[in-house]
Amino acid sequence: MLLGAVGGPQYDTLDRPLRPERGLLRIRKELNLFANLRPALLYPELASASSLKPEVVSGLDLMIVRELTGDVYFGQPRGIEVRNGERVGFNTMLYSESEVRRVAHVAFGIAMKRGKKLCSVEKANVLECSELWKEVMIEVSKDYPEVELSHMYVDNAAMQLIRAPKQFDTIVTGNIFGDILSDAASMLSGSIGMLPSASLDEHNKGMYEPIHGSAPDIAGKNLANPLATILSVAMMYRYTFADLDTADRIENAVKKVIEQGLRTGDIWTEGTQKVSCSEMGDAVVKAM
Ligand code: IPM
Ligand code: MG
Repeated sequence: MLLGAVGGPQYDTLDRPLRPERGLLRIRKELNLFANLRPALLYPELASASSLKPEVVSGLDLMIVRELTGDVYFGQPRGIEVRNGERVGFNTMLYSESEVRRVAHVAFGIAMKRGKKLCSVEKANVLECSELWKEVMIEVSKDYPEVELSHMYVDNAAMQLIRAPKQFDTIVTGNIFGDILSDAASMLSGSIGMLPSASLDEHNKGMYEPIHGSAPDIAGKNLANPLATILSVAMMYRYTFADLDTADRIENAVKKVIEQGLRTGDIWTEGTQKVSCSEMGDAVVKAM
């Protein structure tokens, strides 16, 4: 198992090839981790930690399937060069139909096990890359007649996620749109410190990470919320080992400590008990 979170101001001045982000992207690419599962789930007890009104988010249970090894993140050509006497920066947004098809199958498969509603997010009104994405989604949908497929432009999806997030069950989208939408979705749940993720290859093997970054500002202070990391382990059991019992046990233990009122600083509110990272971890172990 790999657990990762990268970044910190000390790396921001490094040359691009030396930055930790580059390492993470290489791991994803070389292990072929093309399907990134990012759930956003709101525990009712944390509804007040969300910046949205409790009734808008309470009971939220959304899964974003983000394509992770293609798109403008990896498309060639890319670079910075001088054209007509000035520097230009450029990247290439690119998807092959096989790349779209394989992530589509993962997303439809997940939607089948959830609410059987899949929303494909793109920008087909402007981008050819998205036009192809949408066509392939429609083709693949023929294999999943029970799943209701809808399409949404990414700008509208960003708005709808904030306006009425519970309309979504499963979302499938490309790498860059998924990067942005999953950060927005994470905030619906009150804390980015709560959300796990899994990045899987075609055999469901992969890497499991909290969605949040490495939080360099609180490093070494025993303050971080460990729940996203713990829930990432649950995703490993659920999606890679197909050990649903263990996955349920871990997730229920997390639910229990939340119900007991234990909170790290990021999700603490008046009337709940503030605990450290290690205290939270110990409480989860006990609840199991
Ligand atoms: C993420 C992160 C990464 C990404 C960065 C650290 C390269 O934002 O996992 O969402 O953009 O994919
Ligand atoms: Mg991101």
